[in-house]
Amino acid sequence: MRIFLIGYMGSGKTTIGRQVAEQLNMSFADMDDLIERKTGKSVPKIFSELGEEKFRELERECLMEMADYKQVIISTGGGAPCFFDNMQMMNSLGETIYINLTPAELAARLRTTNLNERPILASLQGDELEEFIASALQKREAFYNRAKIKVSGTDSQIADKIIKHLQGEF
Ligand code: S3P
Repeated sequence: MRIFLIGYMGSGKTTIGRQVAEQLNMSFADMDDLIERKTGKSVPKIFSELGEEKFRELERECLMEMADYKQVIISTGGGAPCFFDNMQMMNSLGETIYINLTPAELAARLRTTNLNERPILASLQGDELEEFIASALQKREAFYNRAKIKVSGTDSQIADKIIKHLQGEF
C-alpha cells in the first residue's frame, strides 16, 4: 500500500501522515525532507539558489523514487500534484488523498508557522495571505480534485477518516 497525501501548504499533510502511519504501523516519508536530504539544502535555499523550476524537477525525481517505497504514507509538497503529470503518476502508484481545507482555515494555520520556511508565501502580509491562498487554490484544485478521495475536518478527524478508509470502512 502506498498512500499520497496531497493538499495546499498548511493543510496538515505531515502531521496527519505521521499520525496515520504510526497507527497503521506503516512507514512515513515527507517529500520536502527527502529533497532537502538529497541536495543538502533547505527548500528556501533551493528556491533562492537554484530556482523553482529546479525544485519542481527534484520533486518529480523524488516522486519517481516513490515507486520503490512500499507500505508507506507520503506527505507530498503542496505544489507537487500541479506539475508534469505528477497527479497521474501518483494515482497509478497508489491511493491519493486530498486534504481539503478552506483558504480561511489554511491561512489561520499557516499564520502560526514561520512563513519564511515556505518561499511562495514568505512575502505576504496580513490579509494578503488568505487572498493569495484563495486564488492559488482556484488554480490548484483542478489538480488536487483528481485525487481518489477528498477529506476535510480537524487533523484528528481527517486522520480517523483516512484510517477508516484504508481499513475499508469509509
Ligand atoms: C510548496 C509547498 C511546500 C514546499 C515548497 C513549495 C508549494 O511544501 O514543497 O515550499 O508550491 O505549495 P508543503 O506543502 O509541505 O508546505
